[in-house]
Amino acid sequence: MIKVGLLGAGRIAGVHATAITSNPASCLAAVSDFIPEQAAKLAEQYGSVVRTTEDIIADDSIDAVLIATSTDTHSDLIEAATAAGKAVLCEKPVDLSLERARACQANAAISGKPVMIGFNRRFDPNFAALKRALDAGEVGKAEMLAITSYDPAPPPIAYIKVSGGIFRDMMIHDFDMANFIMGDAPVHVSAVGSCLVNPAIGDAGDYDTAAVTLTYADGRIATIRNTRRAGYGDQRVELQGSEGMLQVGNLTENLLVKSTTQGVSSAKPVLFFLERYMPAYAAEWNAFVSAIQAGGEMPVTLADGVAALAMAEAATRSAKLGLPVSLADV
Ligand SMILES: NC(=O)c1ccc[n+]([C@@H]2O[C@H](COP(=O)([O-])OP(=O)(O)OC[C@H]3O[C@@H](n4cnc5c(N)ncnc54)[C@H](O)[C@@H]3O)[C@@H](O)[C@H]2O)c1
Repeated sequence: MIKVGLLGAGRIAGVHATAITSNPASCLAAVSDFIPEQAAKLAEQYGSVVRTTEDIIADDSIDAVLIATSTDTHSDLIEAATAAGKAVLCEKPVDLSLERARACQANAAISGKPVMIGFNRRFDPNFAALKRALDAGEVGKAEMLAITSYDPAPPPIAYIKVSGGIFRDMMIHDFDMANFIMGDAPVHVSAVGSCLVNPAIGDAGDYDTAAVTLTYADGRIATIRNTRRAGYGDQRVELQGSEGMLQVGNLTENLLVKSTTQGVSSAKPVLFFLERYMPAYAAEWNAFVSAIQAGGEMPVTLADGVAALAMAEAATRSAKLGLPVSLADV
C-alpha cells in the first residue's frame, strides 16, 4: 500500500483525493493546507488526518506526496519531498520561472526519486486513443496538429494576477499535449494574444484570447487556440497525417440528438475541466501508482514539465515582440 500525503486542500486537491482513495494500492495518509478548515474538510471527507506540510514531508512512513498547492510553492516542495525520499506527483506548472524550474529539475535528480508532473490530459481516454492510433501508423506520419482548448469563463482577476499569464497557466496543458502527440519539441514558437473578454485581464498584463503556431525541425506544424470565453465548453484535437486524419471531438453531456423540421440539436459539451477531465485525473493517478510499483520511469517527467514551460516562456516573449521565438533562445 502506497501511503500518500496530499499537500494543499483546494479546488484540484479534492479531485486528487478521490483518485488516491479509489485506487486499492494507495491510501490518503494525511492532508495539509495553510487554511485549516479547508484541510479539515477534505481530511474528514476522505477519512484522513490533517498535518502540516513539513510534518508530512519529514514522515518516513509516507511514501509519496501529491503537490496540489499554489503554483509558487511547487519547485520548493518538489525539492523538499524528493530530498526526503518521496515519490512525487506535482500539479502543473513546475514553476512560473523557467530558470527556477530548470534548477528544480537538477536538484530533484540528485535524489533519484521519481517525479511526475500533472499533465492529466495525456490520460484522457480519447486523446490517448488518438496517440495510440498515430503511433501505430494508422494515418501515416503526423503533418499538422490542431488543438482547440477553450474555457467557459475567465477565472477571478485575483487569480489572473498571479497565474503567470495565459501561456503558463492555461496553454501549458496544450503545449504538453503537442509534445505528447508530436513526440518532439518544436523549434519555433509564434504567438499572438488579445484581450477581448474582460478589459481587467488586459489591465493585469494578460491576454484572454491567444493563438500559437509551433513549427518543427522536419516541417511539421501545430496550432493551438485558447479563449477564456466559450460558454459552451470546447476541447478538441485534430491530427492530419500523411494517410488520413484523427479527430477527437467534444464530449457531450448526453448522446441525445433531436431531429425535427426545425433542425438538428444535441446536448452541449461537458463544460469545465473538472467534469471534462475527471476520468483523466483518475487514470493519471493510476499511472503514477503503476510506475512506482514497476520502479520504472514516470509517464510524464519533470523534464516534460520544464519543456512545456519553455514553450510557454517562448510564447509569452513572441506575443510581446510580435515575432517568432526560437525555443533554443529561452
Ligand atoms: N491539472 C489541472 O487540470 C489543474 C486544474 C486546476 C489547478 N491546477 C493546478 O493546481 C494547483 C492548485 O490549484 P487550485 O485551483 O486547486 O488552487 P487553490 O487555491 O484552490 O488551492 C491551493 C491550496 O494550496 C494551499 N497551499 C499553498 N501553499 C501551501 C503549502 N505550502 N502547504 C499546504 N497548502 C498550501 C492554499 O492554502 C490553497 O488552499 C495550481 O498550481 C494549478 O495550476 C491544475
